[in-house]
Amino acid sequence: MATGITKQEQLSEDAISASDFYKEPIPLPKKDEMATLTYSGKSSLDEIFCDVPREFLRIESSSSNTKLETLPTNSFVLDDNVFVLNELIRLNKKAMLFYLDPPYGTGLDFQCRKLKHAYKDNMGQAEYLEFMRRRLILMRECLNDNGSIYVHIGHQMLAYLKVVMDEIFGVNNFRNLITRRKCSSKNFTRNQYANLNDYILFYTKTSSYVWNQPGVVPEEEWIEKEYPKKDEFGRRFKLVPVHAPGTRNGETGKAWRGKLPPPGKHWQYTPSKLDELDREGDIHWSRNGNPRRKVYWNCDKKRPLTDYWEQYRDAHHQSIKITGYPTEKNFEMLKMIISASSNSGDLVIDPFCGSGTTIHAARELGRKYIGIDASFSAAKATLHRMRYGLKPMGDYVNKKKKSKSKQLALEYSNNKNEECLFIVDSKLWEEYQDEIGKITLDIGL
Ligand SMILES: C[S@@+](CC[C@H](N)C(=O)[O-])C[C@H]1O[C@@H](n2cnc3c(N)ncnc32)[C@H](O)[C@@H]1O
Repeated sequence: MATGITKQEQLSEDAISASDFYKEPIPLPKKDEMATLTYSGKSSLDEIFCDVPREFLRIESSSSNTKLETLPTNSFVLDDNVFVLNELIRLNKKAMLFYLDPPYGTGLDFQCRKLKHAYKDNMGQAEYLEFMRRRLILMRECLNDNGSIYVHIGHQMLAYLKVVMDEIFGVNNFRNLITRRKCSSKNFTRNQYANLNDYILFYTKTSSYVWNQPGVVPEEEWIEKEYPKKDEFGRRFKLVPVHAPGTRNGETGKAWRGKLPPPGKHWQYTPSKLDELDREGDIHWSRNGNPRRKVYWNCDKKRPLTDYWEQYRDAHHQSIKITGYPTEKNFEMLKMIISASSNSGDLVIDPFCGSGTTIHAARELGRKYIGIDASFSAAKATLHRMRYGLKPMGDYVNKKKKSKSKQLALEYSNNKNEECLFIVDSKLWEEYQDEIGKITLDIGL
């Protein structure tokens, strides 16, 4: 229903509809009934919150490690996230923000720019949804009451995941479905519309949550278009209506300066407030005597972000710095999300951390962080980036052979970054000591 429609308008002749006259031949579900997804193997909460004892090691070098009593922050954990999330619940560790960019359910395998295998994305539909549901239930448990969760996803599973998230977080805690433009153009090889976007589902745990209004510094062109008029002092302003939809019986429904609000509308302000605005020069009168309010531009203003994000595309030219990990997300986008939904010192967790974009951004903004990933390539990419930063994309194209250990030692001695701890599940360590050892050598641990 449009905003501001009165009871009287709802009962007018225009509101008569055949569907109010006839009854649905087969009764519809009750008004408060919520839809859920059904499939076999949907586990109960008791099964999901099972205590799976786990022992974690801090890897200090290819040959030395320490057994941990707790999971420290400012760390990367190499493990399946379901076990780490369970451990975080056991330790009662709560995050202010979860950002996750899980596999999208594409049915593909992903490789790094160096053509090493990174991760698989080939689960069946129900299998994928239950995999995500279990983890999302655990994440909700690890979230502060004023915390937020952002789930970055493709078109493949979006609709199903929205239903799953409504079920877990509650429809009332749904905040936005954000559309992110992921690339500039595509080869149009199929008989369908080109796919240029992916999506972010944004939920909060409750209705009271950390929110630092984000905005972008607008370009001159946007300011000129949005605030097209100038006053006698050269200040830019735009004109906005002083009426709103819906009729009112009170003061705002009556004539002001002999003029009634347009049909079906009411004044946004009482006549005395409109007089005050006019006295202060904030009302503009058109040639045929219609009032509008002046809204001035000031340089502290930012352009508010909408739920369509065009500016955070994936790396697209050779000078952009990246890790080379497939599906690596835009660093500036992560900085924006973290700034909006957490404060300095808060804990940010990315349980599908990939190349570490989230934890890198979290560290840069003074947040505590934990990154989790099951892939050995992800471990290498994240730990390398946290020690040495990013490389221009062109470096992967013109592969120059350099003396690697010399180069790393030099880079690290110049690096002032606080160390990101490398944590591994002890059983994984026992099974893959050589491979984990290679990661430590590669990153110069
Ligand atoms: C789309 S990528 C994340 C990319 C990341 N946002 C970045 O900027 O680099 C998804 C990641 O989820 C990881 N992953 C998949 N299943 C996992 C699991 N059960 N536990 C932990 N990580 C998992 C994959 O290894 C992969 O690195």
